[in-house]
Amino acid sequence: LANGLAITPPMGWNSWNHFNCKIDEKMIKETADALVSTGLAKLGYKYVNIDDCWAEIARDDKGNLVAKNATFPSGIKALADYVHSKGLKLGIYSDAGYFTCSKTMPGSLGHEEQDANTFASWGIDYLKYDNCNNDDSKPTVRYPVMTRALMKTGRPIFFSLCEWGDLHPALWGAKVGNSWRTTNDISDSWESMVSRADMNEVYAELARPGGWNDPDMLEVGNGGMTKDEYIVHFSIWAISKAPLLIGCDVRNATKETMEIITNKEVIAVNQDPLGVQAKKVRMEGDLEVWAGPLMGYRTVVLLVNRGPWRNSITAHWDDIGIPLNSAVEARDLWEHKTLKTRFVGNLTATMDSHACKMYVLRPVS
Ligand code: GLA
Repeated sequence: LANGLAITPPMGWNSWNHFNCKIDEKMIKETADALVSTGLAKLGYKYVNIDDCWAEIARDDKGNLVAKNATFPSGIKALADYVHSKGLKLGIYSDAGYFTCSKTMPGSLGHEEQDANTFASWGIDYLKYDNCNNDDSKPTVRYPVMTRALMKTGRPIFFSLCEWGDLHPALWGAKVGNSWRTTNDISDSWESMVSRADMNEVYAELARPGGWNDPDMLEVGNGGMTKDEYIVHFSIWAISKAPLLIGCDVRNATKETMEIITNKEVIAVNQDPLGVQAKKVRMEGDLEVWAGPLMGYRTVVLLVNRGPWRNSITAHWDDIGIPLNSAVEARDLWEHKTLKTRFVGNLTATMDSHACKMYVLRPVS
């Protein structure tokens, strides 16, 4: 969407994957504090996104959305002011239906302009817009109404389409929003994560600055996968130019979790100005090669071992779009080491089950 936002994929945090409906203003403020104190904000994690369950079930007598008094007694405007004072941005959630997915608060269908104005007046910077409990009309009809309403407010608000139905939002999302879901909800397991990665890969050609494919939010740090599996998760999301929305409790993130989500070199791949989503370029059973171009004739390569045993994987220049006789230097983004060997024609690495190797290849003479 041409609203000047999402030139690179959005980065931040969202409440849903860890907290579900158990959210309140104290926790959101503490999260904003933690993003700053841990250094995550400096690395680019700027959006603090409140998901479902933040509003009263009833609108006020003028039809306005109202923050839930029991959990957000100071109101959303005060929260936005707080988050902004930390140099961060505040995101919120609504739905292109009569109720949100949790059914604990109203949706915006029929109230698009009023709600967009409310969000803008509160200082909201990001809207995630879900598709539950609607009137069965097409999302291609309901979503653009909110797009126009947001644009009319004059406030730049990142618009995240959370609809993954039969109408494949990747095919129409670019004119409507800044990101669009390509999958149903992720859960905190290896199978769920890799299957979302696969569903999202299909639409690689449709990602570009201003609009990104969204395989759903990160589960890193929520406890359901091993460290290697979370590294694969973060690596695939990074090369897929997916939104990097942390989904754990950053106030209590472990050293291991922090090591993963603060990897500057991997974040730089996600935020590369070329904005091209990597693709799966070779699959031999459970062994996969993903690759994509970066600025400056560089190439990012991800070797993923999805099988049950330690194994080696070879990336062939033929598959990843490097001229056959070119020599490259390889930077290992998880070891933070530039390999001594210069590679010509291919590169082979060995890794454990459910682990990966991520390299940036740079041509050398
Ligand atoms: C849907 C979305 C989730 C989350 C929940 C909230 O399932 O896909 O990301 O927002 O609704 O109810």
